[in-house]
Amino acid sequence: MNHSPPIPRSIQELPDELISQIAAGEVVERPSSVVRELVDNALDAGAQNITVRLIAGGTRLIAVEDDGHGMHADSLSMSIKRHATSKIRNLHDLESVSTMGFRGEALAAIASVSELTISSRTHIDAHAMQLQARTGELQAAARSQGTSIEVKELFFSTPARRKFLKSEATELAHCLESVQRHALSRPDVGFSIWHEGKTIEQWRAQSGEQAHDHRMRDILGDEFLDQSLAVDHLHGNIRVQGRVGLPDFARSRADHQFAYVNQRYVRDRVIMHAARSAYEDFLHGQRQPVYVLFVQIDPMRVDVNVHPTKIEVRFRDSREIHQAIRHAVESTLATPRSQNHAPFNEHSRAIADLRSFGNTNSDSTHASLNTWRQSRMELNQGSNAVDDLQKLWTPSAQATAPLFAQNPTSNYQASTSAFSSDQDWPLGKAIAQLHGVYILAQNHAGMVIVDMHAAHERIVYERLKQQLDGQGVQSQPLLIPTTFAATDQEIATAQEFQEVIQQLGLDIAPLSSKSLAVRSVPVNLLQGDAVALSRSMLSELAHHDSSTVIDRAQHELLATMACHGAVRANRALTIEEMNALLRKMETTERSDQCNHGRPTWRQLTHKELDAFFMRGR
Ligand SMILES: Nc1ncnc2c1ncn2[C@@H]1O[C@H](COP(=O)(O)OP(=O)(O)OP(=O)(O)O)[C@@H](O)[C@H]1O
Ligand SMILES: [Mg+2]
Repeated sequence: MNHSPPIPRSIQELPDELISQIAAGEVVERPSSVVRELVDNALDAGAQNITVRLIAGGTRLIAVEDDGHGMHADSLSMSIKRHATSKIRNLHDLESVSTMGFRGEALAAIASVSELTISSRTHIDAHAMQLQARTGELQAAARSQGTSIEVKELFFSTPARRKFLKSEATELAHCLESVQRHALSRPDVGFSIWHEGKTIEQWRAQSGEQAHDHRMRDILGDEFLDQSLAVDHLHGNIRVQGRVGLPDFARSRADHQFAYVNQRYVRDRVIMHAARSAYEDFLHGQRQPVYVLFVQIDPMRVDVNVHPTKIEVRFRDSREIHQAIRHAVESTLATPRSQNHAPFNEHSRAIADLRSFGNTNSDSTHASLNTWRQSRMELNQGSNAVDDLQKLWTPSAQATAPLFAQNPTSNYQASTSAFSSDQDWPLGKAIAQLHGVYILAQNHAGMVIVDMHAAHERIVYERLKQQLDGQGVQSQPLLIPTTFAATDQEIATAQEFQEVIQQLGLDIAPLSSKSLAVRSVPVNLLQGDAVALSRSMLSELAHHDSSTVIDRAQHELLATMACHGAVRANRALTIEEMNALLRKMETTERSDQCNHGRPTWRQLTHKELDAFFMRGR
């Protein structure tokens, strides 16, 4: 067959309107994109209050009103031109941009796919002016200083796009999310959202130090505030602030992760990875942490001009960002939460306030927190008596006096003279053991319940990790090696991973072609079942090829070891042993969660206990 090549069509410039419609395809995907752009503009105009009105999920109408600086009449027509902006003038401005907008594209794009009307007035104008984008018609209008933009019938001229819209409820939810993202980073601005003539959200402008917390509470709820920790961390020139959810508050989806770079909401892989990796030690599965993180960085070190919707950014040095975020989140999570409890010199005030505050993380406790931490550190330096939790296993522990009854070092006495002799520890004094599983303790705030295995497991794990990071896991030869019948695979694994196994404080060597001998075990796991421990280590190692047995795998192996080493359920503990465990928890990093991210302890406050029994009603 004779194929004649197609005749090339002549190259022509596209008409302006089509150019805008093509550009709009990237910028305006759905009503929420319009909301985002209009709120961006309102914030850039210095608005204090922003009102968003929607009809039919934003498909019929999106109106955004602000009280910002407004536009002069001559700027109105310019504002809908493509590549026309008041925000940057040259490349240098672009490289250090601090406004949300900079392309001069949003209004042009929106105007090309909707009926757009802008009314605006500056503080020197006698009255407002209104522009109909489609006709270019300008007329006088009534409004005070600021700008109102109305977007009607989105995608009316591009039915193909319109077809992709989801239900009104879904579009509304996206619009709402879009405003939430802005509102979380700008608590100083008031927002209200209306749908079909009714207010659906209203967030008042906040000021002062607690502004962000108030706004997060408004948007993410009380639970988020109660189940998260404040982050404030400086790493070189990068500041990371915000709140990170406790590991047990994690979700199955990554839908509550808000990250901002210089107040711009972003979905950034580096940030998300860094934050998730900070939870690695708590969340082994697919669970997703919840957080709101604000990253402040020199604008020159981040390029915001890489994505049509500006939701992605590119960092000059993504490693420094990764480190800053990981470190900020990690160190926040590592501090035992029990340290946030009031020390004893707050006792009487706490009791007096109990009915009103109930929350032991109250501000009033923070002032003395540092004194308490300081005294704890001094005490730890002065005494190792229960530092070694071996004592949980040995009968001699029962003869050991509890930590708080010991002769205080002079240091300790000096710095804690305000403490009562009836010492009040953050996690309280042990009272009893429940069903061989839980420790019940009493502290000033009420009752503490501890999952003893989970807590001890964490402590052992942290100890092993510390050793591994230092000189290696401390190992102790067994007087009489323990032998066990082993499979071929177990023997092969023991030989192949001999070095790794030794780093982990174990010595497992072939005894015959059918048996292995355990000759040393980690000091911290002396009392555990050496055979069970060895078997599970070998089975886990068999799943790794040697190159992957690094860092993370090692930590997982340590976690397995810790589980073997931790005090088992149904083992009766003496009060002294229980107290020793509580004291150790108070000073062990990450002790609030077991190695699988579940909580190790819970506080029941007086208020909650009273509520059970309807006291004071
Ligand atoms: N609410 C507003 N108040 C005052 N001026 C506004 C408002 N909205 C838009 N403008 C003016 O109109 C111009 C064009 O807005 P548009 O959103 O199209 O572009 P931009 O914000 O400059 O950049 P981008 O396309 O990145 O958003 C802005 O630069 C600004 O001067
Ligand atoms: Mg803009």
